[in-house]
Amino acid sequence: MSVFLVLLSWTSQALTFLLFLLLIAFLSYCVYVQHCHMKYDHIPGPPRDNFFLGHSPTLLRIMKNDGVVHDTFLEWAERYGSVYRLNILHYVTMVVSSPEATKEVMMSPKYPKDKFVYKKLFSLFGQRFFGNGLVTAQDHEQWYKQRRIMDPAFSSTYLRGLMGTFNERAEKLMNKIGDIADRNAEAKMLSLFNSVTLDVIAKVAFGVDLDLENKSSPFPKAIEICMKGLTVYVRDVLFAWKPSNRQYINEVKKAGQLLRSTGAQWINDRKAALRNGEDVPKDILTHIIKSADKEEVMTEEDEQLMLDNFVTFFIAGQETTANQLAFCVMELARHPEILEKVKKEVDDVIGVKQEISSDNLGELIYLSQVLKETLRIYPTAPGTSRDVPVDMVIDGIHVPGGGTYVFSSYVTGRLEKFFKDPLTFDPDRFHPDAAKPYYCYYPFALGPRSCLGQNFAQMEAKVVMAKLLQRFDFTLVPGQSFDIQDTGTLRPKSGVVCSVKHRK
Ligand code: HEM
Repeated sequence: MSVFLVLLSWTSQALTFLLFLLLIAFLSYCVYVQHCHMKYDHIPGPPRDNFFLGHSPTLLRIMKNDGVVHDTFLEWAERYGSVYRLNILHYVTMVVSSPEATKEVMMSPKYPKDKFVYKKLFSLFGQRFFGNGLVTAQDHEQWYKQRRIMDPAFSSTYLRGLMGTFNERAEKLMNKIGDIADRNAEAKMLSLFNSVTLDVIAKVAFGVDLDLENKSSPFPKAIEICMKGLTVYVRDVLFAWKPSNRQYINEVKKAGQLLRSTGAQWINDRKAALRNGEDVPKDILTHIIKSADKEEVMTEEDEQLMLDNFVTFFIAGQETTANQLAFCVMELARHPEILEKVKKEVDDVIGVKQEISSDNLGELIYLSQVLKETLRIYPTAPGTSRDVPVDMVIDGIHVPGGGTYVFSSYVTGRLEKFFKDPLTFDPDRFHPDAAKPYYCYYPFALGPRSCLGQNFAQMEAKVVMAKLLQRFDFTLVPGQSFDIQDTGTLRPKSGVVCSVKHRK
């Protein structure tokens, strides 16, 4: 009995001690949160929801809503100015729209991508997804090595050589739209553009013929499932803990697995071809294999890195361009005078010929303006973020180091102080003689971590749009919304459903 009492007394003492330690830890954390608040509180920002969580409840609410997260960032930028503060527990994030600070941070290799978001993108519900691929790599050396190896696959000489594929794939799309016109059916432009951009990236990046215009494939659906899954995974911290979401999570993981296993298969086929001394294209796949190639035996991590980049290019190289094309058609259909002007340019430059050359692309100046203006209002990859460990002064406000800076091309593109009547679609803002926007327009990001595929994407978009404008008249089927769906990347919610007719 006495042994039992001794044990009981020890247990209760141990528990009391543990509670005491927890209390100390909690109080220390409170002091730390207070310290963080005091350090940054002179910076303007919306009122915090509460002391501990800062703005987290509001941010979680916005992220779960159906709208565009960056609309709230825009509203706050209008109210609080070119740098404002958001508190998430003891973390502090600045939303920055000052052109000078944008230039300073984004143009420099010194500031890594922010660890919260980009580390999260490493996996999807615990299963490796983007890993340490080009978009998500945080370590400068690791990123730089990959980028240097990939660069030649995006050189202007190499891209000029892709014009044949851009033309051929766009031609298949035109045939499909022609069939739709003949049947007087409705054309779902976003899904049509998704097939063409996926067809192009599979062919030019990986040497694989998906021929989505004629065959069905599981990839478009898998990409859509992964993108939607990524959004909830990054934005809703509690999602994975709810048992009712288990089935959905399994579906997302299966889609991610399909992309990675396809990558493994295509990489192995290419490696075998290389081993057999076959003549293989110097495409992105060859460069992906090179980026992991070393003198020593390849490790499991090297193999995984190749798959990371496969998934990165498969996704980055496809849906942002498809979304841009769909927004572009939506805006042209809403602005008949702009549509007529751009059609006239296409007629003047291309006439009735089928094969568009890279020189022709250079001559389609107004079409370039239209595509740029589309990305101003609808930057399909709307933002990026960096960790900034050093103090800075932004528009006279001292910002202590240690926070994360969010840069949103959606916000700056829609701020009246940078673009007059920002919601008016006006391609003349990008007229060659107009003043260039100063660090307030960056749909492809800026500096060393800017989009590697920018020229690729815009060449592809121009070929597709030029052929569409050359061959078809299109109008929006009435009753559609012009809303944006935010799944991390932005797309038109309606899918842009059009009636199409052959041009006379
Ligand atoms: C309209 C189309 C596109 C838009 C708006 C776009 C936009 C962007 C943006 C904003 C980033 C920076 C992302 C971040 O900081 O998190 C980025 C990075 C990247 N994009 Fe694109 N992109 C487009 C098309 C493409 C295409 C077609 C490819 C490939 C064929 C591509 C490949 C990449 C890669 C590899 C990176 C990472 C670059 C690095 O960090 O070194 N993108 N893109």
